[in-house]
Amino acid sequence: MSFVKVLSLAELPPGSTAEVSVGENAYALCNANGTVHALWGSCPCAGGPLGHGTLVDNLLVCPWHGRRYDICTGRHHFDPNIVVPTYPVKIEDGNIFIDVPQNAVPQNAVTPTDVPQ
Ligand code: FES
Repeated sequence: MSFVKVLSLAELPPGSTAEVSVGENAYALCNANGTVHALWGSCPCAGGPLGHGTLVDNLLVCPWHGRRYDICTGRHHFDPNIVVPTYPVKIEDGNIFIDVPQNAVPQNAVTPTDVPQ
């Protein structure tokens, strides 16, 4: 793994979220009070785009059915057995870098191609 630049910090103001891609995978970025977090971009429920979700305190709310995930741990708000992978983030020269496996899909991750049409 290595850090990859994904966005400028100016593009992710506090309280916002964004979807970014590294290789073929999407990731969700969240800026919670100036601290940036990175999570796997697909919701375990049905592959909802977490990068299009909203932040409520330290929870990322999926835009499709409202599941909530802790942005620090990736754990579902009520069921600790449901976890969205999280990734290291660093900020350098006003840019956001995330450390993700290149084109690797986390074990048990739901991707949009898994979702029935
Ligand atoms: S796809 Fe995220 S809550 Fe259902």
